[in-house]
Amino acid sequence: MKEEVRYGARTFVPAITRNEIREAVIRVADRLNKDYAGREPIFLVVLNGAFMFAADLVKEVEFECQISFVKLSSYAGTESTGKVKELIGIEVDVKDRDVIIVEDIVESGLTMHRVLEQLRELGAASVEICAFVHKPMKLQFEDARPKYIGMNIKDRFIIGYGLDIDGYARNLPEVYELEVKEDRIIKG
Ligand code: PRP
Repeated sequence: MKEEVRYGARTFVPAITRNEIREAVIRVADRLNKDYAGREPIFLVVLNGAFMFAADLVKEVEFECQISFVKLSSYAGTESTGKVKELIGIEVDVKDRDVIIVEDIVESGLTMHRVLEQLRELGAASVEICAFVHKPMKLQFEDARPKYIGMNIKDRFIIGYGLDIDGYARNLPEVYELEVKEDRIIKG
């Protein structure tokens, strides 16, 4: 893992190693394998960010499943715009099906809240959220609290393993967080 990575004026430092990611994926997959044994759920992967987590996760799944994608976007730079743009909608028939939504990150929960509303309207039998990382402190929509979580993290802006800064850094195999420079009080 690099000591730091830079994008524009921003510096990012190591946050989650490759091993920790691997352990998180296995932990989540083990729980899914227990809970969904004998069922045939649909994984609904939320693009773009979740592509890498989803690819690793579904390789560890032992039950029959289908995989479909939606593409949503709400972030510009490091800030949420508060609006969720739907770029590719739900293309699979979810009526009476068990759905597992796969996210890279759940923060405010706004994105998940919107997807949950749609899935309910479309008649899904059950819906659970599976997120690689979750920021519990930032959650504003209680229905969006993920059941399956790879890791809970503090409120830091992170990149890598699918997560981006203005479209960059998704390919990094580990997770880096925005460096926080402590304010220094110079005395005397
Ligand atoms: C990110 C992330 C989640 C959402 C989480 O998507 O992938 O979908 O924000 O934030 P929330 O819980 O506050 O809604 P983004 O808009 O950055 O799109 P991307 O997946 O293409 O990076």
